[in-house]
Amino acid sequence: MTLSEQSKALACAVRAARAAGDLMRRNLFAVKKINATSAHDIKLELDVRCQKLIERALHKSYPRIALLGEEGVAGDPTAPQRWVVDPIDGTVNFAYGVPHACVSIALQIQNLAAEFATVVGVVFDPFCDELWTAIRGHPARLNGKVIHVSDRSTLGEAIVSIGFAKTTATLNATLPYFNELVRRVRKVRMMGAAALALTYVATGRFDAYIERGIRLWDIAAGGLIIECAGGEFWREPVPGFHKYRMLASNGRLRKKLEGFGYDGIGPISTPPQRVGRSR
Ligand code: IPD
Ligand code: CA
Repeated sequence: MTLSEQSKALACAVRAARAAGDLMRRNLFAVKKINATSAHDIKLELDVRCQKLIERALHKSYPRIALLGEEGVAGDPTAPQRWVVDPIDGTVNFAYGVPHACVSIALQIQNLAAEFATVVGVVFDPFCDELWTAIRGHPARLNGKVIHVSDRSTLGEAIVSIGFAKTTATLNATLPYFNELVRRVRKVRMMGAAALALTYVATGRFDAYIERGIRLWDIAAGGLIIECAGGEFWREPVPGFHKYRMLASNGRLRKKLEGFGYDGIGPISTPPQRVGRSR
């Protein structure tokens, strides 16, 4: 894909994200229809409506590109290009009327090794009207302005955000790490929207984000945005449908965060080997 093609795809993803964001904004305080609940999660009818809206917008311009979304897949699953979509990231916040949620859209392309690489990423927060964009190899932007990760290099001055995911297993595995981390950093934050936590790292508001059981649609766009903002996005697949453990940071803090045992999954054990470029 040429840069001009990537720019067009980015513009299309931005239109789709803004349309879904508009629907979210209009419904923040509405009574929302719940499709399903579990101990630590809620699924809304609006999740599905937002995804459909995004699907239509993307499909109109790109009928041959498949879509992998939190609310289901569309198109040819063997297609070499796919949109990776989280129509509402931060659904529980949104369901409770907390204005901290976003739309996340990434475009991924298969390389010769048949691995998907994110080339375009968009995250839109409709409540703060903040739009993050990135094209691989180019600077990340917030509302058009180039952004960069923080240069903080000590844990003592860092804000580290954590996601506890949705299962008892991830809660139990993350709590010992949280217990240790909270004593060492300036603040731990749990904001409930992984894609926004990643863009906050990219913008230098947070210094790192950690989660042990997260899905591709939560992190595909934000991961690229972090890398294009000069940060690091380490992740590794774990059992489950497009499930990962991850550590994203400004780069300077990774070793220190690994240093006391973040391995992404279990209680304290070996640190992850390498925080690599996203594919
Ligand atoms: C969730 C949020 C949450 C994170 C979970 C995600 P959803 O996405 O990003 O912060 O901890 O792992 O699944 O369900 O609100 O789209
Ligand atoms: Ca999500």
